[in-house]
Amino acid sequence: MMKLLFQWIFLGLVLQLVLVVSASDFKRLNIWPMPQSVSYGHRTLYLSEDFEISTEGSKYPDTSGILKDGFSRLLAVVHAAHVTDGNVTHFPQSLLLKGIHVVIFLPNDELQYGVDESYKLSVPSGGNPVYAHLEAQTVYGALHGLETFSQLCHFNFTTRVIEVRQVPWSIIDQPRFSYRGLLIDTARHYQPLQMIKKVIDSMAYAKLNVLHWHIVDSQSFPLEIPSYPKLWDGAYSITERYTLADAAEIVSYAQRLGINVLAEIDVPGHALSWGTGYPSLWPSKDCQQPLDVSSEFTFKVIDGILSDFSKVFKFKFVHLGGDEVNTSCWVLTPHVRNWLKKHGMNASEAYQYFVLRTQKIALSHGYEIVNWEETFNNFGNKLSRKTVVHNWLGGGVAERVVAAGLRCIVSNQDVWYLDHLDTTWPKFYANEPLTNITNPKQQELVIGGEVCLWGEHIDGSDIEQTIWPRAAAAAERLWTPYEKLAKDPRQVTGRLAHFRCLLNQRGVAAAPLAGPGRVAPEEPGSCYMQ
Ligand SMILES: *[C@@H]1O[C@H](CO)[C@@H](O)[C@H](O)[C@H]1NC(C)=O
Ligand SMILES: *[C@@H]1O[C@H](CO)[C@@H](O)[C@H](O)[C@H]1NC(C)=O
Ligand SMILES: *[C@@H]1O[C@H](CO)[C@@H](O)[C@H](O)[C@H]1NC(C)=O
Ligand SMILES: *[C@@H]1O[C@H](CO)[C@@H](O)[C@H](O)[C@H]1NC(C)=O
Ligand SMILES: *[C@@H]1O[C@H](CO)[C@@H](O)[C@H](O)[C@H]1NC(C)=O
Repeated sequence: MMKLLFQWIFLGLVLQLVLVVSASDFKRLNIWPMPQSVSYGHRTLYLSEDFEISTEGSKYPDTSGILKDGFSRLLAVVHAAHVTDGNVTHFPQSLLLKGIHVVIFLPNDELQYGVDESYKLSVPSGGNPVYAHLEAQTVYGALHGLETFSQLCHFNFTTRVIEVRQVPWSIIDQPRFSYRGLLIDTARHYQPLQMIKKVIDSMAYAKLNVLHWHIVDSQSFPLEIPSYPKLWDGAYSITERYTLADAAEIVSYAQRLGINVLAEIDVPGHALSWGTGYPSLWPSKDCQQPLDVSSEFTFKVIDGILSDFSKVFKFKFVHLGGDEVNTSCWVLTPHVRNWLKKHGMNASEAYQYFVLRTQKIALSHGYEIVNWEETFNNFGNKLSRKTVVHNWLGGGVAERVVAAGLRCIVSNQDVWYLDHLDTTWPKFYANEPLTNITNPKQQELVIGGEVCLWGEHIDGSDIEQTIWPRAAAAAERLWTPYEKLAKDPRQVTGRLAHFRCLLNQRGVAAAPLAGPGRVAPEEPGSCYMQ
């Protein structure tokens, strides 16, 4: 009898646990990335049919229409999942959300590194008329606020209208790191313009703010460079190319979503394709990279490229690569070997000379510089103080970079390379850029991080599912205050699954969470459980 009683009590406990879990599941805050501070209630408002934006009192004139377009995108994503064929007019006026009142304090919309991205969003629980209220210093903070608002909106299958549940909301938010990047590689495979724009759209959903465009590499040179018009002879085909106008279009498209474009040329290694149009950039037919360090023409070409870049890529940084430089064939090429001898340099000194000279050219065009970490590892104390060191080889690098007083971007390949398909999302989530960095001044030098999608196995057919949802895990790490991040990634599984399904609803081919990257769903079942 006693035993049976215990069994009943035990069963009751289990049932209760199940109920608690599903109730909290329903009430879970399904916002990704998690804002700095959130409070909410338990009432519901209904989105009015003529839901509008009001900008009364805003200092931002929106002459370029960035805010207006952001509002159109908000309406589009909120209505993307279902046809809203319910009738809201029979709800009391006091429960109809008439619109969102957006107040922006700064008039200009220059998008630059470190731009204020903070916002405050509140949705009252009633009133007449009822407006959500969004405040931001810049239009780019306001765009983040609109994205957050869109994630509060839900279609109701009974009323068939859009609801904002759990009002009143009060959200105060700003990013933890000012550089939150995604690398795409258009040299290993060409990515069509529309696909790049789709990736940019999806980045905005996760509040990523830098598209690192690894444009050219050994395999192909797809970009038009007017100063040296034969460079894009190194493209895979005549169609797989970007005109400079295409590049300008990418930059302006991204900018209107609050995303900067970091353009990269990777020198002196990773540049074999440059010689298709200009063979004299190769040391010789048998030594096609690194670029010929002994030739003035090499630096003239780099100057021409960066001069053309500066007309289109307005971000304060340019990426100059500098990784994986194998100098052995310099020494084997007679005219280069003679040049080295004449200048009293060995090959590793010539590598340093190349990188530093290229840095000077970039500085002369007004850029600050990002270089891959090998440059720091080999001659860190010689780098321009305007260098940001881009970590990739592994952990512990940021620590040394900031101790040397330079800035750092974290992309350690063991956990933040999206093309490493066996890296699961919890590893992306758990990667902490400030690991082992405790000095606050040094912490500030870690400007952020970036997930990298190298393109050897990526084209238009699989780019989205290789990026998502794993990039979203890193996006929360880079956005959300440290104290609010889950100590155990499993705690956020449900919320990330929800975000992944939201991406699917918005037309982004985000892959299931279960298993490694880019997998197909394992079995029949709900999107939220995959
Ligand atoms: C919506 O409801 C209102 C009031 O209940 C009614 O007057 C109106 O005709 C309805 N509209 C539609 C399209 O059904
Ligand atoms: C949908 O609306 C109905 C009727 O107002 C309400 O009872 C129900 O709770 C709503 N559904 C959700 C999931 O909020
Ligand atoms: C460097 O390049 C030479 C040929 O130039 C090659 O023999 C060697 O294996 C390469 N070294 C590495 C580490 O890749
Ligand atoms: C190149 O020269 C530098 C400075 O003399 C020296 O420290 C370095 O070991 C040399 N590197 C090689 C590969 O010989
Ligand atoms: C941080 O420091 C600990 C203790 O020195 C070390 O074991 C660990 O590898 C370091 N982590 C990184 C990413 O450098």
